[in-house]
Parts: sequence; structure tokens; C-alpha cells
Amino acid sequence: MDILVGLQWGDEGKGKFIDHICSRYDVIARFNGGANAGHSIYYHKQKVTLKLLPSGVFYPQTLNVIGTGVVVNPIQLQEELAVLRTLDPTLNVSERLMISAKAHLVLPTHKYFDIVYEENPDYRTIGTTKNGIAPAYAHKILRQNLRVGDVYSAQFEADFRSITQRHYRELEAFGCTLPAYEDLVEEFLSAVAFVKKLSIVDTELYVNQALNEGKKVLAEGAQASMLDIDHGTYPYVTSSSTIAGGACTGLGVSPTKIGEIYGVLKAYTTRVGEGIFPTEILGEQAEELRQKGGEFGSNTKRPRRVGWLDIPALKYAIMLNGVTQLILTKSDILNGRKEVPVCTHYEVDGDLYPYFSTNLVEKNLQPQYKTFEGWDFDLQNVGVKEDLSPNFIAFLAYIEQAVAVPVTFLSTGPQREEIIELSVSTYN
Ligand code: IMP
Repeated sequence: MDILVGLQWGDEGKGKFIDHICSRYDVIARFNGGANAGHSIYYHKQKVTLKLLPSGVFYPQTLNVIGTGVVVNPIQLQEELAVLRTLDPTLNVSERLMISAKAHLVLPTHKYFDIVYEENPDYRTIGTTKNGIAPAYAHKILRQNLRVGDVYSAQFEADFRSITQRHYRELEAFGCTLPAYEDLVEEFLSAVAFVKKLSIVDTELYVNQALNEGKKVLAEGAQASMLDIDHGTYPYVTSSSTIAGGACTGLGVSPTKIGEIYGVLKAYTTRVGEGIFPTEILGEQAEELRQKGGEFGSNTKRPRRVGWLDIPALKYAIMLNGVTQLILTKSDILNGRKEVPVCTHYEVDGDLYPYFSTNLVEKNLQPQYKTFEGWDFDLQNVGVKEDLSPNFIAFLAYIEQAVAVPVTFLSTGPQREEIIELSVSTYN
């Protein structure tokens, strides 16, 4: 099984790359997160944002798995499948979808907990997507939640009511404004009735059997390494295991079965929500990059914070994941700039540090930059590596040498076909 992860704070362009390499895989399996993701893919020139569904849905031969590590919101799932059916009925996504019976449900009350924690001054504000992801994982860990497979139980409605009525009492105590309870129940149970008709199975058995039969499986990570619950910039992180190790637990696949680990990175950095961002830029310069890169959350539409490429953070993420190939996206956005800064080290009290570390972040960390001469060539028409400008090749080579991993794919624009495979690396 190969794994694909994001190496920064999300929104690196993972969905587009998966869509591109789908034809090489039989199965695309999501292993973490839920509808907090926002994987944008252009299908017949139309932008589609997948939040919960794996990014293999647009390739007709691919089977898509929502694995055990994912939290599933039935309402969101039904809506997303409806959008795809309208877009292209021949895609038959529902027939090519398997959902883990052991994946946890995002209950309709979870988003209200998310809102309460975000907005109540007694709690930390994280800047979440308010999709109820953290409360769903919290109740999973507390062992007070329901799982997707429970929808077949005769007890399901009674259990759902008992849990959500308790949630209502808790939320009312917070002073939270809630919809009429029966309206919430009706909407949720109607989505559950829809989900029951889908294929809800032990996906671990399916994925392992597929691997044993020699089928190719790609584990699709959502969010990104620096948002990992354990190794990210806690508390400003998501609630799941976003790194390559999370693919093994989230899908029930042994580490011995792992092959390539693709790491996706943007030529600069973005972050949505609160939290440390060493190379962040502000003001006019930031606004220009944000507008040019269309850096607005695909899930929440919030303006993304923007900054320069951060090699120490990238090295840390590559170490956590054991990345074997890099996919560089959005270099086209930097096209036409006179100079492109890259953070090579952090300086703290006169000492230089090549790696990200939480200890440094707590101190007065100063990013140190190397400035590359900009490039101005038509990335949209790049076919082979020789078409790249020397300045851009210098930038690419620097990244490869600094992190000791080759860049094997270069995304040259937002459309499906705007990606080139770099057969010869500058890194050996
Ligand atoms: P949550 O995952 O909704 O709980 O949000 C926690 C943090 O992760 C917030 O800073 C979100 O903006 C961020 N986040 C969650 N999902 C994504 C994503 O897919 N891309 C980028 N940031 C994300």
C-alpha cells in the first residue's frame, strides 16, 4: 500500500494529485478526518470539493474506501453523493464506495459542541472548521459514540436518541441555541436510511485481501502533518492522526505492507485557523499572494494565512512520515515574482536550528531566509523538465538537496491535466 500525506498545514493539493494518479491504483482509501477536509478537483473543467469522499471517485475503475479512522457524517455523505450524481450520473460513485462499519459517526449534535468550544470564552479557540470533528473523536475516545455499523442495529434509534438527548442537556447548559430536537432527529435518520443502503463492511478485511491479491491501494491522508493530533502544533491541530503511521491504524494495514510514501507540499505555505506559523507574511504582500493563489478555505471559505516555504518544518514532516517522493504544487502562483524567499533555518538566541521543534516555537524564533531569483515562464505549457527555467530548477534542486527526497511530480496549474512527472531528479 502506498500512502499520500500533506506535509504542511493542509491545502497542499492532495486531492488533485490523487485524481491524477488514480489510474495506477485499484483502491483509494481515506484513513483519517471527516468532512473537515476540502479536496478540490477539476472534473470536466468544473471545480468539485470533496469533503468526505475519497479522491478516487472521478476515475470509473477505482474503488473508494472510507476507512475506520474516519469520522462519518451521514448528512454530509448523502449531500456529497447527490452533488456527484447531478454532475455526472455515469460516475456511479455509490456503487464504488465502501464504508468501514467501525468508523465513527459524526452525530448532528457534534457540530454544536464544536461551536460552543470555539465561541465560549472559557475554552480555547482553535479556528476549527466547525464540522463537529473534534467532539466526534472525543466521544469515540470516551467510548460514548455510535459507529457506522450500528445503523443496522434494532436499537439504533433508541441509542441515538438517548445520546443526543443527553447532548442537548449538556449544550443547553452552555446556553447554546439548538434546532427543535425532532427536526434534528428527522434529518439525521433520513440520511442514515440512505447510508444503510451503501456498502458498510469490515474495510480492513477488504483492503488486506485486495493487497494480498496484488491490487494497488493508495491511502489518502486528509489535513496534514503539521495538524497531526500528536506531532502537530498542538493545540492548534485537528483531532486525528494525519501522518503515514495513521494510515496503518486508520485502515488496519500492517506497516510491513507500506511501499511509497508521497508527500505533497506547496511552493509556499498556508494555514487556516489559529496557531504558530513561523514564515507567515502579513499585509499587502500577503494579500497579493492570497489572491493570486486563491487561498481561501475550500471547506470554510476563510482567507488562508500565507507565508514562505519553511524547510525546517518540511524536514520535520518528512521525518515523521518517511516520505519517499515529493509532489510540488502551486509553483505557478510564484511565477513572475522577482524573488522567492525560502526559510532554511530558524534562529533562536543566535543559534541556528535546521528542524522544527515545539520547544523552539515557545522561544523567540526568527526564520532565516535564502532568496532565490524568481522565474517567469509559462508553467501551464511545461511538458518536460527541460522546459523549466534555470531559476526554477535552482529552487527545485535546493528543496531536494535540503530534505534529501526527490520531487517526482510538479503540479503546474489547477486543472486535472496540469501536472508533469519529473523523470530525472536533480537529487541523487
Ligand atoms: P477541525 O479539524 O475542524 O477540528 O479544525 C482544527 C484545525 O485544523 C483548524 O485550524 C482547521 O482550520 C484545520 N483544518 C482542518 N481540516 C483542514 C483541511 O482540510 N485543510 C486545512 N486545514 C484544516
